[in-house]
Formats: sequence, structure tokens, C-alpha cells
Amino acid sequence: MDAVQAPIVQVIGDLIRQVPGTISLGQGVVHYGPPREAIDAARAALADPATHEYQDGLGIPILIDRLTAKLKIENGIDVARGRTLMVTAGANMAFVHAVLAITDLPVEEKAEIILPVPFYFNHDMAIEMAGCRTVRVPTDDHYQLRVDAIRDAITPRTRAIVTISPNNPSGAVFSESSLGEVNALCRDRGIYHIADEVYEYFTYGSARHVSVGSFADAEAHTISMYSLSKAYGFAGWRIGYVVYPDHLASAMMKSQDTILVCAPVVSQVAAAAALDVGRAYSEPHVGELAQVRDIVLRQLGTLAPLAEVPAADGAFYVLLKVNADIPPMAIAERLIREHKVAVIPGPAFGMTEGCCFRVAYGALQKETVAEGIGRLVAGLRAIAGSGLHT
Ligand SMILES: Cc1ncc(COP(=O)(O)O)c(C=O)c1O
Repeated sequence: MDAVQAPIVQVIGDLIRQVPGTISLGQGVVHYGPPREAIDAARAALADPATHEYQDGLGIPILIDRLTAKLKIENGIDVARGRTLMVTAGANMAFVHAVLAITDLPVEEKAEIILPVPFYFNHDMAIEMAGCRTVRVPTDDHYQLRVDAIRDAITPRTRAIVTISPNNPSGAVFSESSLGEVNALCRDRGIYHIADEVYEYFTYGSARHVSVGSFADAEAHTISMYSLSKAYGFAGWRIGYVVYPDHLASAMMKSQDTILVCAPVVSQVAAAAALDVGRAYSEPHVGELAQVRDIVLRQLGTLAPLAEVPAADGAFYVLLKVNADIPPMAIAERLIREHKVAVIPGPAFGMTEGCCFRVAYGALQKETVAEGIGRLVAGLRAIAGSGLHT
């Protein structure tokens, strides 16, 4: 555990608690909660004795039905064709299961999983905790995949390549062609493609999310994971789901049964009701976030040349590159203590070169964005302006 990075959201959260009134642009949360129908369903489920019992480890039938239909219609994934669907307590747990399921190697060797940088910190933590090794591969100046670099990083110990699109922390939406190349590479080299698609609904302008599992011949080597946390404002209910090849069914169930048994039943009932409301629930929220994003990009744009923000078409993050020679954690701490605004420093995402910060705007609304980003802009000018490289 000593080698595993500290959970940065908790570290920043501790600092925020010391400075009341801090606006958090740290944690990746949305400002809205679940649909009313989900809450009503959860309330009604309390009277059903089955809610209080262990249920099937894969998920309760009504939710499996709804998710199977959703995957087919929206993602082009036919669960009936050689794949298994499992409901987990969030996509983080799905990732842990997947890592445990695919990384057997003789004890003297470490299995490797390739993460394009920037990565999602919990992926890196899960890999290292499982006794495996994160292999970090750079992306390009716009945080797009560099398939050549990924190909060069494959070794006999590589078990998987992970892609997150839309991306946390960069907001980048990967092109269909680059995701297709990665998927084909995984197929040809006999490794897995783990596709984290928890931000599938969060794209802006002409950007479109592509489901890796819909590619031809993807079913035997693709593990696709999704979540209700963002799309349905469900973060505290802990519901995610994962689709994987049938040959991993036994290994995935060993991990699920040991760690979780089954996802919380009341949350599953609520999730089925949320799925009945469907994607339409998130659409107005995503529309509002698009407006918030415009304001964020415009305000952060005024920081040039002190900072730059590569274009980001998805999720609700931007990765700000600050042109200063100061350790990012030191700046993040001063931003909280002196300017009452919190962001996450780049090293948590593998950005160890330069001075980067993830700015999360999912919790902001049009009324609050100016204040939050205003503090960040003023804070960065005050703290890093004097250390500007010219
Ligand atoms: C890329 C990515 N994957 C997974 C998760 C975890 O989602 P869940 O709440 O479903 O565990 C997050 C949450 O921020 C995320 O950003």
C-alpha cells in the first residue's frame, strides 16, 4: 500500500474542510440528483422483503433487463453474444474486478496494464494495489491517444490497455479511428481493451462518444464499463455495470462474490427506475453544462500566457497547463488557503512534468461558475504570475 498514491480527492477534501467557504472544482460530481422516479421506486422497495436479502451477484433481473436493452440500443452491444453483464457498486469496483480477473502471472513477475497519461487516479491505484504495474504512455498535445506509443509499450507481461472516453481528467473525446486501432491492437496481441465509458452522455458541440464494444469482433477481448453516478446523479447510490467476455465470467464472479456479494439491492431497484426515465433525464443537464463549459473556457482563456487550456469536448473537466515553475501541490494548497478554491494537481493523473491542474465544473451552474472560476483565475495570477516562464 505504501507504493500506492494517496487518494487525492480525500487529501484535497481535508484541506477544503479546514477552509470553510471554499468552492470545490476538485471532485468529479454533478450538481443534480437522481430522477424522482428512482427515489419513489427506492421508497416502495423498502416494503419488499427481497430488498433486504442477498440477491444474484450479477444483478437483479429487472435491472439486468433494462441495462441489456440500453446496451443494445445505445451502445450497439449485444450482451447475448458471448458476453456477460454484471452490476457493480460503481464503475470503480468494475475496474477492480477486471484487473483481478485478467492479471494472473507467476509471482515473480508483475502483470502490466497500459494507461495513457493523463489517467484516472483510481485506475492507477487499483492496478498497483493488485500487485501489478501501471505502464504510463504519453498522449499528444491535445491529450489524444498516441497509438504508436501504446504499441511500443506492449510487452509479454501486458494484460490490457485502458481507454477513457470522454476522458477524466482531460475532457478529451477520442476519435473512433484511434479507439478502433487500439481495439484491433488488443485483439491482435491477445490482450484486453478496458473501455471506461462513464461519461458517455457528456459530449459537447460535434463530439460524439463511441462505444468500443460495438466494434466488429470486439466481444472476446473488450471489457466495457459504465456508471449511473454522473448520468443520473447517482454517485452515492453506487451503481455501475460492466460487460465482459464470457470466458471471464468465473473470475469476475469470484471477485464480486468476495468483495461485494451483490450491488446494494435498494440502489439496483432505484437504478432500474432511472433507466426507465432514460437518457432524456441527463440531456437538459448536459445542455446546461455546455453553457457552463463555455464560460469556464472563456474565463480560463484570459490566463494566457500564464496558463493554457487544450480544447476538451467531453466529460466536465479541463486540464489547465500553468506555465510556472512551482510544484502543483503547493499551488493547490495556496489556492485553497488564500483564495478559497480547490482544484486537483496533475501528478495524481500521472502528469508529473510541468504544472497542471484538473478543473471540474460538473458541480457548477450558470449562477455559480463566475465566482468559482473567478477565484481560480485571480488565485493563479497572484500565486503563479510572478513565477511565470517567459
Ligand atoms: C473515468 C472514471 N471512471 C470511473 C469513475 C467512478 O465512477 P463510479 O462512481 O461509478 O464508481 C469515475 C468517477 O469519477 C471516473 O471519472
